[in-house]
Amino acid sequence: MRISIILFISLLSFSCSNKYMELKNSAIDYHIIPKPLKINIGTGKFLVDENTIIVASKRLKNEGELLASMLSSASGKTINYTSKGKGNIILELNNSINNDEGYKLQITYNNITITGKNAKGIFYGIQTLRQLLPARTESESINELTIPAVYIEDSPRFKYRGMHLDVARHFFPVDFIKKYIDLIALHKMNTFHWHLTEDQGWRIEIKKYPKLTTIGAWRNGTIVGRLPGTSNDQKKYGGFYTHEDIKDIVAYATAKHVTVIPEIELPGHSSAAIAAYPYLSCFPKEPTKVTKNMGSEKGKQIQETGTPKIVQETWGVFPDVYCSGKEETFLFLQNVLDEVIQLFPSTYIHIGGDECPKTNWKRCANCQKRIKTEGLHDEHELQSYFITRIERYLNSKGRNIIGWDEILEGGLAPNATVMSWRGTKGGIEAAKQKHHVIMTPGHSCYFDYYQVKSPEEKAKEPLAIGGNTTVANVYSYDPIPIELSKDEQKYILGAQGNVWTEYMKTFNYVEYMILPRMAALSEVVWSSKNNKNWEDFTNRLNSLKDHYDALGVNYAKHVFEIEKDTLINK
Ligand code: ACM
Ligand code: ZN
Repeated sequence: MRISIILFISLLSFSCSNKYMELKNSAIDYHIIPKPLKINIGTGKFLVDENTIIVASKRLKNEGELLASMLSSASGKTINYTSKGKGNIILELNNSINNDEGYKLQITYNNITITGKNAKGIFYGIQTLRQLLPARTESESINELTIPAVYIEDSPRFKYRGMHLDVARHFFPVDFIKKYIDLIALHKMNTFHWHLTEDQGWRIEIKKYPKLTTIGAWRNGTIVGRLPGTSNDQKKYGGFYTHEDIKDIVAYATAKHVTVIPEIELPGHSSAAIAAYPYLSCFPKEPTKVTKNMGSEKGKQIQETGTPKIVQETWGVFPDVYCSGKEETFLFLQNVLDEVIQLFPSTYIHIGGDECPKTNWKRCANCQKRIKTEGLHDEHELQSYFITRIERYLNSKGRNIIGWDEILEGGLAPNATVMSWRGTKGGIEAAKQKHHVIMTPGHSCYFDYYQVKSPEEKAKEPLAIGGNTTVANVYSYDPIPIELSKDEQKYILGAQGNVWTEYMKTFNYVEYMILPRMAALSEVVWSSKNNKNWEDFTNRLNSLKDHYDALGVNYAKHVFEIEKDTLINK
């Protein structure tokens, strides 16, 4: 009796296996963004059922549980992860894979194996597997969940694959930041550059300097419309992240193999810090300049009643910056950075360095004295002194700095990595000086630009900063400048999309601005140059769009409309 039951069950499972073994797959089943290095499509499908078990060593517990949760919600069945025993989905580490983030994914009708050099590679294998599932499983379970047979070998072209977010011009709560990190991970990007301090708001709690958040995190109003604005909305606006929030976000990102790099802007873009602690300014008693009379009524009252500094309510670049002459400035920044490095394990700390007017330094006795005593030529060298001093401090704590390309002016700090944003010139120059570089040129990587070209189209768009960067512009970008020799090219670590939020008041708006440009950028930084093809990309983008829909994220539709038009006109 027992034997006949076993025979019956095995016959049954054999017939099931056979059914899935012979299923033909179509090209659309293999739409993956970013495009993997090598993909061999197979015949048959793996069925996720009650007998599916994920097995992986304890070192891969995070990835095993992540995959178990993904397949459980996609199939509506309980799929377990175990660190011992047998399973038909195997996650394993293998040192023979060269790239730290590389992976191999083998799917047959009866097994799935994901191999990686590190947990990171396994994680990316799981992200690929995610795109092989029907898109609607992002939000609902389906009966008879199957995954098409395939063999993939994959690794990224660049080490640094970043997305930046300015949370100072507009503030986004912890849950939104987590969604942003989810999107970074979905696109196999690995860095979240978190722009935390600005003229319009200081967003990170610093326990030693409570006024940074009691005063610096709040502005009394915001200009209405495009700079210079039509009026001031007179509404108090702000927010900040506590240490607990930050720990929560860093842990969340770490589980998704995303490094969080905090940016603490200096010496410019420092109005919010100066509003909290006016002694940081060259001229503590001078009221904050309010451009075009666009300040709020409350801000004006504060200035009239003796607090001369306010958190800025308009956008732009402001002359009231950290004084380079006073020792108190450096003491303050070192104390701030001490708390920052406690919270962020990232080797890199971004220290800004962009858009620092030198007008106050030119008329400040302390700054001029510093120029003399340090034997500097001018205020550009004074900025270089500032950055180098902060770099030395951070290096002494085992951290390295990244700065915007202005840090080249007056001489680069010895170990600095340069983020090239004013085109590619700064990146080229830094690589020639044998400094590491991250490319973020405006024309291809600024996702606050319009994503359409003509004035008529722009008029129909939500307000943006200007410019135009279409999905195709992003896609055609190559982070390696042709001006660099083979040897110099090695200094280009990768690229990043920048998201300045002057006009992005909601997270929905942010999503609209980043998607699908981020998908194009993910292929720029992940896929091999030989594998890039615009038509093929837009085809695959249609499938990723289905994932966006199922996830309920907002995205711009232009690129899909162009595709439709082209098809109709053919
Ligand atoms: C920048 O866009 N100011 C770096
Ligand atoms: Zn000064």
